[in-house]
Amino acid sequence: MIKFISAGESHGKCLTGIISGLPSGFKPDLGFVENELKLRRTSLGRSQRQNIEKDTFSITAGLSKGITTGAPLAFCIENKDFRPDDDLLYKDFVPRPGHADFTGAIKYDLPPMVAAERASARPTAAYVAAGAIIRCLLSELKVICVGHVVQIGGIECFPHGDPSLYNSVVDVCAARCADMSAAPLLEAEIERVGESGDSIGGKVEVDILGLPVGMGSYVLPSQRADALLAAALMSVPSVKAVEIGLGAGYADKLGSQVIDPILLRDGKIVRASNNCGGLEGGITNGNTISATVTVKPVPTIKLPVDSVDIRKKEAAVPVYKRSDVCAVPTVAVIARNVAAIAIAEIISEETGGSTLSQIKERFEKYERS
Ligand SMILES: Cc1cc2nc3c(=O)[nH]c(=O)nc-3n(C[C@H](O)[C@H](O)[C@H](O)COP(=O)(O)O)c2cc1C
Repeated sequence: MIKFISAGESHGKCLTGIISGLPSGFKPDLGFVENELKLRRTSLGRSQRQNIEKDTFSITAGLSKGITTGAPLAFCIENKDFRPDDDLLYKDFVPRPGHADFTGAIKYDLPPMVAAERASARPTAAYVAAGAIIRCLLSELKVICVGHVVQIGGIECFPHGDPSLYNSVVDVCAARCADMSAAPLLEAEIERVGESGDSIGGKVEVDILGLPVGMGSYVLPSQRADALLAAALMSVPSVKAVEIGLGAGYADKLGSQVIDPILLRDGKIVRASNNCGGLEGGITNGNTISATVTVKPVPTIKLPVDSVDIRKKEAAVPVYKRSDVCAVPTVAVIARNVAAIAIAEIISEETGGSTLSQIKERFEKYERS
């Protein structure tokens, strides 16, 4: 079964990732992986750090002549902003509320900034690289993972058309939305908030297209595709809610308004709507999986926030450190790749298979709606 683990800190030497359980016989497109890393780095709302990082990416194990062998695939991404054992990290005892400074400091008995090194969003570069490698495998199965911003602050996006084409719009728009008319508004809002010294949150939608009926199971909670997908998306720092399909929108509806009827059209079973977001009973139902994540405003802001010096036990305000204003556009890139990892785990659990051709053959036998 496909599994991913990463290591690495914000200002450590490099980020490392290992993907185990990949089948032999597929060729990751390294240009595609590098481009996903670039999209993560150049999304709107980021700090100057992104001008320093080049995200030099290399695969160090698991390929022969560029093709997977079935052995664990390892990669590393260099940190240009490498600050070995930076003394400043050991002198600051005022945690930023909302970051992992306080919880990490208490749990691991570390200065808050040392704890934040691993909790920071920098390790999400490794998630993106792993997800992008895995999306090369998913594309062999014609499964597409899309991520796009649908809201920042009070500004909503209304993309239309074929979601399988959204990434081509998202990738040329730094606000990472699929609604080009909303892009300048999002951009202006992030700039306005940044100038005021504050930060801002929003929502990202992830769509997964091309899955047949039958991935995941209701048999065990740990096999539910909805639970696994939600856990993966929730693991992205600053994500505070995951909704599948209509999600929280179900709360004030009647069943008759939101049930997705099953119809017969030209002898084929189809669904009249997709409010359940492609998942019923923790199993894919053949429709597009649709999940929306809510991203909180980043916790480091220029405006003063109350905190406490945890060593001296006295009131203090955290020292402002270089920070992003808005993580939402970047989360669109991270989320589609993190979702890909979860979906590949679910598919590989379902189909088994040591080679790409075995997985393909077994996957193609599942019913399509
Ligand atoms: C792409 C991205 C960029 C982020 N940039 C910052 C940042 O510059 N400053 C900050 O304080 N938090 C930033 N965050 C949020 C923190 O990483 C996050 O709030 C923190 O790790 C605590 O985790 P939690 O919000 O999930 O509880 C960012 C998150 C993401 C996904």
